[in-house]
Amino acid sequence: MIELKNIKSHFPIFSCHSDLVYLDNAATTQKPQSVIEAISNFYKKENTNIHRGIYPLAVSTSQKYEAVRVKIAQFLNANDPEEIVYTSGTTASVNLVVHSFLRPQLKMDDEVIISAMEHHANLIPWQMACKDVGAHLRVIPMNRLGELDLKEFGEMLTTKVKMIAVTHISNSLGSINPIEEMIDMAHQKGIPILVDGAQSVAHYPIDLQGLDVDFFTFSGHKLFGPTGIGVLYGKKQYLDKMQPIQFGGGMIKNVTFEKSIFSEVPQLFEAGTTNISGVIGLGAAIDYVNELNRDEVLGFLKRMENNLTSKLLEVDGLRIIGQAKKKSAIVSFSMESIHPHDIATFLGAENIAVRAGHHCTQPVMDFFQLPATTRVSFSIYNQEEEVDFFVKKIKEIKQFFG
Ligand SMILES: Cc1ncc(COP(=O)(O)O)c(C=O)c1O
Repeated sequence: MIELKNIKSHFPIFSCHSDLVYLDNAATTQKPQSVIEAISNFYKKENTNIHRGIYPLAVSTSQKYEAVRVKIAQFLNANDPEEIVYTSGTTASVNLVVHSFLRPQLKMDDEVIISAMEHHANLIPWQMACKDVGAHLRVIPMNRLGELDLKEFGEMLTTKVKMIAVTHISNSLGSINPIEEMIDMAHQKGIPILVDGAQSVAHYPIDLQGLDVDFFTFSGHKLFGPTGIGVLYGKKQYLDKMQPIQFGGGMIKNVTFEKSIFSEVPQLFEAGTTNISGVIGLGAAIDYVNELNRDEVLGFLKRMENNLTSKLLEVDGLRIIGQAKKKSAIVSFSMESIHPHDIATFLGAENIAVRAGHHCTQPVMDFFQLPATTRVSFSIYNQEEEVDFFVKKIKEIKQFFG
């Protein structure tokens, strides 16, 4: 088991930048040495393509690539590794479901439901599909705390609804949505539901079979893994009916000029040479997370979030954006008369990395009538004293801007 106490030393970026206070973990997480080494060793010692060569090195790489699929299935408690499709990330996973699952069956006046707090990655693809056929995108409303209105959601579930897509955790508000209840409600009406796990997968144990969710998406880079690799989980019953949207090598059984016969799921959706080193790196990231005490991590992150929130609330003119009862380690805020970009620039000069902007959730900013917020997002290597340092700098910003 890895103890949180000395965890920072596992992440080489903090040796290169000893003063860095990295509070932008919702954007991407830092990588432990073991992940960096796994990728580097792959290129140094094992680099081959997969599922093609029959020489020992290629066979071994293919086996390792498929072993990570099994590891991911176990990590998420999926029923079958074949339900794990490698993609380039959450965005690609959502697009695959939209184009391969929804679009072929979507008709004029059908409805697709998303929530008011979706990342653009889980909004625009559904919006475009609806626009293409004259279907309607419906939005589950939220209250001022950033909590979804489940009563309204229940009333939206008519026979017109063909699909629901909702984020597990909001990247701009930190709200943890009641996905268990929402999945139940969707299934009572026979509607398939996708959960965007981009912000939950790193810290919250995911039990796909327990949840009974139909599709689940995440990105490796938010789970201490590399960029450019992600996962689409889909129930086999759905994946088996879906058509590929990319065609080429690696996804066929037989090709003639007249016709092609495709491979089975999941290779069916993995045309071309995939991100092999990314898969190897993701496998190492999951090994790393499996060594963490998940309860300790969640307790620590909750403490960090509570501590920062209570200290920020003492700052005059500062407003926390997103105060759901169930929140993850994301704290967004706005300060009267100070633009978030000024806040982030000021903090940047002090080696504090935060994100300022709309966080790819422009409708959330519209809802709160703000151009942007400043967002702090914690991870396992943050330190309790970073909260005090951060709050001190926020008070200096307030003084500086009068
Ligand atoms: C909730 C959520 N969904 C989707 C995405 C998109 O992830 P990616 O850019 O890795 O595809 C993000 C990224 O910030 C996110 O936070």
